[in-house]
Amino acid sequence: MRRPEVIGERDVVKTLHGERPYIFFDNAASTPALKSVFDRVSAFMPYYSNVERGIGYKSFVSTELFERAREVIHEFMEAPEDEYAVIFVKNTTEAINKLARKLRPIIGDGKVLTTEMEHHSNFLPWKKHYETEVVEVDKNGRIDVNLIEDKLKKAKGKIKLVAITGASNVTGYVNPIYEIADIAHRYGALISIDGAQYIPHKHISMKNGIDFLSFSAHKFYAPFGSGALIGKKELLDKGDPESVGGGTVKFVALDEVIWADLPEKEEAGTPVIIGAIALMAALEEFKKWGMEALEKIEEHLHEKLYKALGDLDGIKILGGERNNDDLPVISFVSEKVSPYVLSSVLSFEYGIGVRTGCFCAQPYVKKLLSVTERESESIKQDLLHGLLPEKGAIRASLSFYNTEEEINVLKEAIQDALSRDKIDYEYDPHFKAFVPRGFKFTLPF
Ligand SMILES: Cc1ncc(COP(=O)(O)O)c(C=O)c1O
Repeated sequence: MRRPEVIGERDVVKTLHGERPYIFFDNAASTPALKSVFDRVSAFMPYYSNVERGIGYKSFVSTELFERAREVIHEFMEAPEDEYAVIFVKNTTEAINKLARKLRPIIGDGKVLTTEMEHHSNFLPWKKHYETEVVEVDKNGRIDVNLIEDKLKKAKGKIKLVAITGASNVTGYVNPIYEIADIAHRYGALISIDGAQYIPHKHISMKNGIDFLSFSAHKFYAPFGSGALIGKKELLDKGDPESVGGGTVKFVALDEVIWADLPEKEEAGTPVIIGAIALMAALEEFKKWGMEALEKIEEHLHEKLYKALGDLDGIKILGGERNNDDLPVISFVSEKVSPYVLSSVLSFEYGIGVRTGCFCAQPYVKKLLSVTERESESIKQDLLHGLLPEKGAIRASLSFYNTEEEINVLKEAIQDALSRDKIDYEYDPHFKAFVPRGFKFTLPF
């Protein structure tokens, strides 16, 4: 089967040197939509109606497709329906916040074990609701599973949940989630995986010991506002719904409420109908193509990207040695040019889209950059004053549809920027970015 087609692939954009094919290396933030996803959404639109209780042909079509999307997720993630609930939400962040609030009856005054590698979305919700312990990463930015076990052992049953990312959005490192699940369970803790980065690149099987999983469809080629929380039914069913209102009840009187069963109990109000159908379309296409095919291409691109960046004088890759199966996500810095200026040269002159800063993982990026206490304070002051802090990195995150040729353009662009004596860009507070002096932005339509 042909690989899935991506909308906007090889489109041209204006640059300072004329039109160039756009090279999108910011897939870890959001991927473009698959063509099949967009086509499915377009085909569905004439039938769009609210779901569940409408009586009418279009309501039946909407409800059928919405519920089928749930079944497809169960199947794709190997999460049997009798054991797991799939709850539609708007993104990973919402899923983790929901889970953190939902687990109150289970975690109580126990602790949550998380790691220094986490995106803020898998750190702050736990910190807000519970006492947390943090497993530090080693000098290369990796998690040592022995440290997870040490913490669990020392906590003597007080740690009730291990909340860890499947893969880092900064280094692309993949964590051994099934091994960590085993360890967690051995010490009586549950495990929640932040799948925001893992799911678009690796196949997951929930039944291999994963209790909870959160992910976003916009990072999985279906950017129509949905995400999902998958979790063990018996655990998610405890207590009142996290959010209450329409759809969450079976019966309401002025003095009595009987909650609905899962998953409706946890989907208050009108759910993300189009987003769920879009996600289904993406999963179906990847199922047909095979996640192994995607992984194979991405491993190859990862190797090429690592080599290209590693070959460049004056470029330092964050982290240490990489494994073959780490994600094609690499963050780097230049000793000579600020990441904010370098990324602007890539964009304005070469049509390359990347991401800069700390990628919503400030503790991890600071560790990888060996930021001192004093520098950390200065970063804080810059951020509080709305300034770009000096420290930060550039992230190139690739996907199966990127090419070796694009990696070569990135390499050439970086070489060109680093060879210049002066880069005449100025800070534009509107774009929060450096732009070529005198630059005027125009929308494409
Ligand atoms: C590892 C990780 N977790 C969580 C998130 C949050 O995802 P969302 O913005 O879709 O909620 C991201 C987003 O970049 C991420 O990379």
